[in-house]
Amino acid sequence: MPLIAPSPIVSPRLTIRLVSAADLPGLLAVNGDDLVTRHLPYASWKSPADGEAWLARMRAPIDAGTALQFVICNTASGQVLGSCLLFHFIEASARAELGYVLGRAQWGQGLMFEALGALLTQAFGGLGLRRIEAEVNPANTASARLLERLGFTREGLLRQRWVAKGVPHDVNVYGLLRDEWLAGVSAAAAAATATGAT
Ligand SMILES: CC(C)(COP(=O)(O)OP(=O)(O)OC[C@H]1O[C@@H](n2cnc3c(N)ncnc32)[C@H](O)[C@@H]1OP(=O)(O)O)[C@@H](O)C(=O)NCCC(=O)NCCS
Repeated sequence: MPLIAPSPIVSPRLTIRLVSAADLPGLLAVNGDDLVTRHLPYASWKSPADGEAWLARMRAPIDAGTALQFVICNTASGQVLGSCLLFHFIEASARAELGYVLGRAQWGQGLMFEALGALLTQAFGGLGLRRIEAEVNPANTASARLLERLGFTREGLLRQRWVAKGVPHDVNVYGLLRDEWLAGVSAAAAAATATGAT
């Protein structure tokens, strides 16, 4: 069975919904920034054509049911702030890979933590995933911190795994299991109840 597209996912500040062509101008602003794409395996988008080509490339895994590509929007304004995706879905192992990118003006406000928290709840719930993985350039401190705060474990280093912008680089592989996520959610809820923060 392919990955089933969920209804839009809502968190306190954000709406995470499936991408459409109308989102490309917003995503060009995000992915056209060399600082944003510094640790990513693709060149910054230079023009609308780069966004259109990206969406066309995404069609194959989306249509095959092995990827779900989302945009992250500010619910109040509707502005596209970034994107996240589940890809490399392997049904027999109930496993997928996670990717994410946020516009530079939005960094450091806990927005990706909020977006991925909502996405992981859906992924381990309705989507039925059992394990989620992410590959991170060791130089990408913000991404590593984000995954660790979400409860991911750094499982190992793959040497010279990617060539990005002409330079080979290692990646750390991070993994999160459904049982770990559910235990973390329960612990957070218990702590919030104990402090009266619910
Ligand atoms: C990685 C990224 C998504 C983080 O998003 P974010 O919304 O800023 O993350 P958060 O605000 O939830 O912060 C996550 C952690 O990273 C830290 N952080 C944020 N920006 C940072 C920076 N530029 N340098 C170092 N740490 C940073 C935060 O302080 C926080 O750590 P803490 O929990 O110890 O306080 C964002 O920086 C980004 O889009 N980067 C470019 C794309 C990218 O690298 N994607 C991931 C590829 S693996």
